[in-house]
Amino acid sequence: TTTEELQTLVLTTLDSKGSIENTKEFKASDGKEVDQLVLLGALKSLVDKEMVEYDTIEDEIWVLTDEGDEIVDKGSHEANVFEAIPAGDEGLSIPELQKLLGNAAKIGQGKAFKNKWITKKGDNLIRAVNSIIDQTRIDLDIICSTGKHSDPNVIADLKRRRLCDKHKIISYSVTKGPKFSLTIEKQARDITFEMLQSGEWKKANFKKYNFDALGIPPSGGHLHPLMKIREELRQIFFEMGFEEMPTNRFVESSFWNFDALFQPQQHPARDAHDTFFIKDPAVGTQFPTDYLERVKKVHSVGGYGSTGYGYDWKIEEAQKLLLRTHTTAVSSFMLYNLAQKEFKPVKYFSIDRVFRNETVDATHLAEFHQVEGVIADKGLTLGDLIGFMETFYEKMGIKNLRFKPAYNPYTEPSMEIFSYHEGLGKWVEIGNSGMFRPEMLEPMGLDPEIRVIAWGLGLERPAMIKYGLENIRELLGHKVNLTMIENNPICAFDLI
Ligand code: PHE
Repeated sequence: TTTEELQTLVLTTLDSKGSIENTKEFKASDGKEVDQLVLLGALKSLVDKEMVEYDTIEDEIWVLTDEGDEIVDKGSHEANVFEAIPAGDEGLSIPELQKLLGNAAKIGQGKAFKNKWITKKGDNLIRAVNSIIDQTRIDLDIICSTGKHSDPNVIADLKRRRLCDKHKIISYSVTKGPKFSLTIEKQARDITFEMLQSGEWKKANFKKYNFDALGIPPSGGHLHPLMKIREELRQIFFEMGFEEMPTNRFVESSFWNFDALFQPQQHPARDAHDTFFIKDPAVGTQFPTDYLERVKKVHSVGGYGSTGYGYDWKIEEAQKLLLRTHTTAVSSFMLYNLAQKEFKPVKYFSIDRVFRNETVDATHLAEFHQVEGVIADKGLTLGDLIGFMETFYEKMGIKNLRFKPAYNPYTEPSMEIFSYHEGLGKWVEIGNSGMFRPEMLEPMGLDPEIRVIAWGLGLERPAMIKYGLENIRELLGHKVNLTMIENNPICAFDLI
């Protein structure tokens, strides 16, 4: 029976009888019983339209188990035992009874003895009465046809014997609702453009809002490929015992971005061609005074065994605010803070955005992400740096490393890291590294015995290789294909 048929049945019954006392007695047009669950669905939608009202009727009935059914069909085991034994003095031997009834013989015998229906004569069983009444079968028959029994002791006994069981049944009583009618009007679900234009929405009969319905799952919430790779790298750092540096400072002073890193004020990277300077506010003035003096000194006249650069260091240049050009600006700030406490070896990392005033092309954007690792301990060597990087890159699936001497104002020695790229068939640069210079560390207040090794790499290049992108604009910015973002898999570094 379909929902529509049931609804018509409910409405016509209500129309002729006024109310429906219990839908249990409800019969569909084909005479079959109505499934109360399907009926509930039909009622609910009529209730939404205020055409009917209903109450739930909970009832208990007793139903027979399979074994109970079999007894109604063939009689109880004890009755079968009685019937199997012929009348008269001869009777039947136990093995013969077993042959006739199988397993049931054993169960039936006990009960038949207890009922004093049978007795023993020699080795044989004989009838003890002329006729019997199979009360178990009669009781089960009553339960089967009415769902009840007047004697609770009988019910309890039959339940214990696992011949019947209690079932809950739910049915409904139905009355007319305020908007009762024999015809079901189709209700509008949404306001459409046409309804608004024609004014039909004013008269339309809208379906009631269902606040319990589950909404359509939103398709948002997908991690960007760069963020997936960032997460994997983060895990690698955590595995190696690193802690994450707080990088939530895109705007930085030239002091922490350059001066603290022993980068001279005339260095070309500090030019507006390479760096985005902030216009408003243009300067920052909060610096640790003593430290600033030591930085000024090491740049202009040297110290800590260094001759310095020998130029006129200007505070105005250090105060200029900029968008940080590398995450090493955060490392310098963190190392200065480290130097203010009793020394403990540390392993720091960061993965965040940096900005450079570069010509934008297929592989360069004016902003990108840097991954940076910093380790500070007494007596670290270049061998430690190489070893650490081999472990780090190996966890990314990169095994074949080469190191090439390079130059950074803040590291000595410095090394560029290369790896052989099978796909491209050549050695590609995958990072920059070095040991921070005494001119950078000692003015901070770090003990001269403390060595700090560090390395940095870009996040975009491995992401582009991994996701097979040739143009960086397909990875970042307004040209990014959102389906690619949603569908691409979690990064697997062994594929880089
Ligand atoms: N800051 C360097 C860069 O931007 C990377 C680097 C970090 C090099 C730490 C050495 C030590 O390329």
